[in-house]
Parts: sequence; C-alpha cells; structure tokens
Amino acid sequence: MSPFLLTRTLPEDATDAALRADVLHGLTHTPKTLPPKWFYDAHGSELFEQITELPEYYPTRAEREILIDRAGEIAAATGARTLVELGSGSSDKTRHLLDAFTDLALYVPVDVSESALTQAGHALIEERPGLDVHALIADFTGAMTLPETPGPRLLAFLGGTIGNLLPAERATFFAGLRALLSPGDALLLGTDLVKDEQVLVRAYDDAAGVTAAFNKNVLTVVDRELGADFDAGAFDHVALWDADNEWIEMRLRSRTDQTVKIPALDLAVDFTAGEELRTEISAKFRKEGVRSELAAAGLELAHWWTDREGRFALSLSVVR
Ligand code: SAH
Ligand code: AVI
Repeated sequence: MSPFLLTRTLPEDATDAALRADVLHGLTHTPKTLPPKWFYDAHGSELFEQITELPEYYPTRAEREILIDRAGEIAAATGARTLVELGSGSSDKTRHLLDAFTDLALYVPVDVSESALTQAGHALIEERPGLDVHALIADFTGAMTLPETPGPRLLAFLGGTIGNLLPAERATFFAGLRALLSPGDALLLGTDLVKDEQVLVRAYDDAAGVTAAFNKNVLTVVDRELGADFDAGAFDHVALWDADNEWIEMRLRSRTDQTVKIPALDLAVDFTAGEELRTEISAKFRKEGVRSELAAAGLELAHWWTDREGRFALSLSVVR
C-alpha cells in the first residue's frame, strides 16, 4: 500500500445535497439552527486550530496532558494494530498515541474536512516513514463503513467533539460505533467536563474574537456554496451556558431585521432584530453520564482518566 491514501466515501454531490437539506431544514424551522459540521471548510479548520492555541480554550491542553500521561497505558490495554480516529482534524494530539503504539500497522483518520486530512496525512507520513495512513473523507453522523484493517482496532474520538451532538444523536452514534467494533477492539473517548460557568463561557467567547470568526464562518460557507447573501457583520457571536442541559450553546444573533436570500434553494429567510440562529451545542459531561451513555450502547467504561485539574476526561472501553 502507498503510505498515504485518501478516500472520499461519499460523492461530492452528496455533500452538496446534505448542505442544502440542512440549510433548508434549519433555516425554515423555529428556532433556526445549523449543524456544526458546516464550520469546517479549509478556513474553518484553520480557525479551529487557532482556537486550540487560545489562552481561554483549555480542552486541547487538558486532553494533551492526559494523552502524554496515559498513552502507554492505552497502548498496553488495547494492543491496537489499527488506530481509527473520528473527527481527526490536524491529528496533532494523536501523535502522542502514535508514539506509544509499538505494533501499529495503520492509522485511519476520518473527517469531513479534506484540507485537514490532506495536511495531517502528508505531515504524518513525512515524520513517520514506517506509518501507513488511509484517510477517509466521511461524515461520522451517517452510516460509516471502515476498510478491512488489521485488528485489534482502537477507535479514538478526541477533542470533546462528542459534545457537539445532541443526546439523541449521541445514542444513535454510540450504537453505530459499537456495531463497527469486534471483540478485542476498543473505544477511546474524549469528553469535556462540567465546570465553572465563567471558565466555560470564556472558552467559547475569547477576547481575541477567534471563536466569533469561527462561528460566523458557517455563514461564509453557506454564501459560497449556495450563493446566499449572509453578511457576517450583521450578526453577533453569542456563547451561553445552558445549565439545565449542561451544554454551551453558540448562536449568531441578528443585529437588525433582515432578509437573507439563498438562491440555490430559491429561499428568502427573514430574521428579526435579536433573533438567534443556533450553530453549535458543546455538551459537558460527568463520569456517570458517560458511563451510562456508553452502557446503553453495550460499551463498558473500563478506564477514566482526567487531567490534573479535572477539566477533561478520556475514557476507554474494550469490547469483550
Ligand atoms: N480531534 C481534533 C479536532 C477536533 S475539531 C482535536 O481534538 O483537536 C472537530 C473535527 O471534527 C474537525 O476536524 C471537523 O472537520 C470534524 N467534524 C465535525 N463534524 C464532523 C462530521 N459530522 N463527520 C466527520 N468529521 C466531522
Ligand atoms: C470540536 N469541538 C469539540 C469544539 C468544541 O469545543 O465544542 C468546537 C468549538 N466550538 C467553539 N470552539 C470550539
């Protein structure tokens, strides 16, 4: 096999059709919503990388600390020969895992962002001449098929991206993951934890305005792909803590009464001044919640590791 392979699991027009369907559905219902996967064009992926460097955005640093401390234990507990990573982005923290696995035959990063996969894949094979990388452009919220690969397999889902799914979506997602795993395979899951509201809100409303730019990037994507005339300057970035649901919500609040045209959908969408469009939830977790969501999908929590400040957790489930 060539050391770097990139496979698109869905034709490009399927992505286009999915964006149209999500925009049509999300902007014609009350309250208005858009799914967070549309943040991640090349610019959005780059903005996310900038977010990971912000002083206020602790999850990346906290998860890296756990990976540095526990990668050896994870490698020993799983003995994985294939590492599959969902929503892999830059694969930056993944390097700590790759360093610890002595018997790894293949790394399979899976992401909707072709630019992130290409950059990460090329960098990895250059750094690690012995590593085969088979990247998949795929939507992890849809039906996923993975290539036949050497077992045992470790499926990693890092960064707290699981929190970007609604509870019902998470249940479907975990059940789908369980169906992909065979006895001896394992799931490594990163979850951000419930903490002080101010710390959480600051992480999603940074002083430099990078998260605001990331949030508004979804409008740029809809403008470019569907010919819409969203003016990002006509919306304010909003990040708030929903204490009942224990999640952060990112929204875009219309500054004025305005109508946005979306020619590809033959649609005009009215916004009233102050009206908010929800662009993301980022759920925060507790250990018992994670245990029970995994258990509902037939996955048993075997290890739970946190960073020293208890901000973020990695959990490991090994399939029997
Ligand atoms: N795992 C990395 C990146 C997290 S950012 C980290 O921990 O830093 C979330 C990543 O998931 C992005 O790279 C984004 O492109 C990808 N992503 C978001 N929604 C997705 C979906 N539905 N299917 C596949 N990838 C998705
Ligand atoms: C990818 N995901 C886990 C990030 C999060 O924290 O929910 C996306 C993000 N949104 C705003 N900042 C970062």
